[in-house]
Amino acid sequence: MSDTITIAEMTEPQARAELARLADVLGDANRAYHGEDAPQISDADYDALKRRNAEIEARFPALKRDDSPSDQVGAEPSEGFSKLRHAVSMLSLSNAFDAEEVDDFDARIRKYLGLGADAALRYTAEPKIDGLSLSLRYEDGALVSAATRGDGQVGENVTANAQTIDDIPQRIKNGPAILEVRGEVYMSHADFEALNARQTERGGKTFANPRNAAAGSLRQLDASITRARPLRFFAYTWGEISEPLAETQMAAIERLAQMGFQTNPLTNLSDGPADLLAHYAKIEQLRSQLGYDIDGVVYKVDDLALQGRLGFRSTTPRWAIAHKFPAELAWTRLEAIDIQVGRTGALSPVARLAPVTVGGVVVSNATLHNEDYIAGRDSKGGEIRAGKDIRVGDWVQVYRAGDVIPKVADVDLSKRPDTSKPYVFPELCPECGSDAIREPGDAVRRCSGGLICPAQAVEKLKHFVSRSAFDIDGLGAKQVEQFHTDGWIAEPADIFTLRERFGTGLQQLKNREGWGEKSASNLFDAIDARRDIELARLIFGLGIRHVGEAASNLLALHYGTWTAFAEAMDAAADPENEAWGDLTGIDGVGAVMAGSLTATFAQDTERAAIDRLIAHLQVQTAERPDTSGSPVAGKIVVFTGTLEKMTRAEAKARAESLGAKVSGSVSAKTDILVAGPGAGSKAKKAIELGIETLDEDGWLALIEGA
Ligand code: IVH
Repeated sequence: MSDTITIAEMTEPQARAELARLADVLGDANRAYHGEDAPQISDADYDALKRRNAEIEARFPALKRDDSPSDQVGAEPSEGFSKLRHAVSMLSLSNAFDAEEVDDFDARIRKYLGLGADAALRYTAEPKIDGLSLSLRYEDGALVSAATRGDGQVGENVTANAQTIDDIPQRIKNGPAILEVRGEVYMSHADFEALNARQTERGGKTFANPRNAAAGSLRQLDASITRARPLRFFAYTWGEISEPLAETQMAAIERLAQMGFQTNPLTNLSDGPADLLAHYAKIEQLRSQLGYDIDGVVYKVDDLALQGRLGFRSTTPRWAIAHKFPAELAWTRLEAIDIQVGRTGALSPVARLAPVTVGGVVVSNATLHNEDYIAGRDSKGGEIRAGKDIRVGDWVQVYRAGDVIPKVADVDLSKRPDTSKPYVFPELCPECGSDAIREPGDAVRRCSGGLICPAQAVEKLKHFVSRSAFDIDGLGAKQVEQFHTDGWIAEPADIFTLRERFGTGLQQLKNREGWGEKSASNLFDAIDARRDIELARLIFGLGIRHVGEAASNLLALHYGTWTAFAEAMDAAADPENEAWGDLTGIDGVGAVMAGSLTATFAQDTERAAIDRLIAHLQVQTAERPDTSGSPVAGKIVVFTGTLEKMTRAEAKARAESLGAKVSGSVSAKTDILVAGPGAGSKAKKAIELGIETLDEDGWLALIEGA
């Protein structure tokens, strides 16, 4: 049945059929969203369908189904994690979409409480974080369990995963003996972008948005994966408590903050709907600068005694409502598809759009990911957007989440011009004309031109001067582009001959916009200062595909000197040579990275450019920390349970500085398990495997004086 039939016109059989359809569609959407971290429909569509369902039920109460979507929160917990029953159910929030509905919310509450229109009634207002909810149970100050919402009654036991999140205290002081703290796990935009970049580099799964990334990262059966993902947590409510936290919502949140939880700084107190709407407008305006996704503002009655009187409907409290933002989606025309060539030669398609406002920001460019995405396929050949391809001239839907680069989500085939033709992805690099090759299993097509490709060359130069590489004061991406365009630098070695080539020609630079005598000579000094460079920065600065900052550090520590490193890369080109085994034996260096390293060193033009660079440098020897006197050097250590004298981060850093390797899971290779109170399955496994187990004091005694 189409949505065009109004509810007022509906007959009873039509209503029954529509309720059945909505139960189906919403059930599927729920499972996809909660169970599989892969939403099928947008939040706005979901909300609209849920609303339609509620409106039909309101007109035909007798037709309300036993499995009505109105009575459901989330989806059943998935297999894999053990289950935890919530002592107090985890509910959802009803929604408001405009000022009138906020007025209705206030009026309903006053009516329920028998308060006149003029009686004082205060509310808190705070951002609605777009992540996933988590319930943390503390007993006598110690974190004992953590559970996702699941179906609201029973969630997944993600205790080990929650223990890896820095924002979640392992112990709290001055709280009630039993305290369930609830809040939202989320990922910041910056961390989300970095995670996706890492995943792409490793050929792993990328996430559609920060919420999916947060859910996918928390719900990992291997908690060491969660540990490596930068998750955060805001506390905003509570479940079971053995004594009240405070008399008001605001004071209760302040207490949670005092106990060590992160609470949202944009939480405020309002006197009524007008005030609430003003705070909503303020938060909406700040939305794009917050650095994390929010999808509305939550209003709560401040007086906890009144919250108690108001109580709950089947799945939502009467004392709170979520005032949702309009979806950050818009339709516009795709005017062109441009191809950008990156440092490693990747051809990235960019949508040039007729400018359109999406969530308050004008968008005229969006990513189209890769050629499969344009064609309506995923990397495994399955359909996306029901197989609809994207063509120049199409009307496309643009999606933006906070600061995240806008994406093209959908296409409207009914508006497709008859003359349109499928987009043909270039097989030649648009910058240098070299073949653009797609290796089997790689979603990305790459220019094979290497350094002769000007686009790759300039991106490589930008990388070379970036902060974690050579980090040359006064030589940033903008200057590199300028110097490259002017023909002054074509490869990293050219940076180090700038002074001698300019010599008296300083005049030339000085006369350029933005350059004076002082800044030019400062630049040459800054370049000279970097002739003496750490090995790890040099390796990272070369911009070799798959070789990130962490890997560069590992390589530097392993080989110590540039000569040893370069000789090993040459020798490892032969997989029979023991140098290959030595390279891939470094924990953190896989065959893909090793292959990329050896291929770069074996490629004549690349190698010649590296040698020209090295001639200008004095490369420092990478010093391994001296762990000769350390009793734990080379040992694999696992920390579990609660540590009372240090944070996990401290414990890990100290162990690593003593030459130990800290792992998140116990296996036959583990040497020492350090188990604090609350240690569970890991301690059990360690005993089964006969692994040395120490308590925190035992560990401290062991490393004392080392
Ligand atoms: S209060 C009884 N406050 O939104 C439920 N929820 O759509 C009390 N959420 O299930 C929830 N930010 O996962 C509350 N500041 C906030 C929130 C928030 C995000 C989530 C939460 C809830 C969902 C409802």
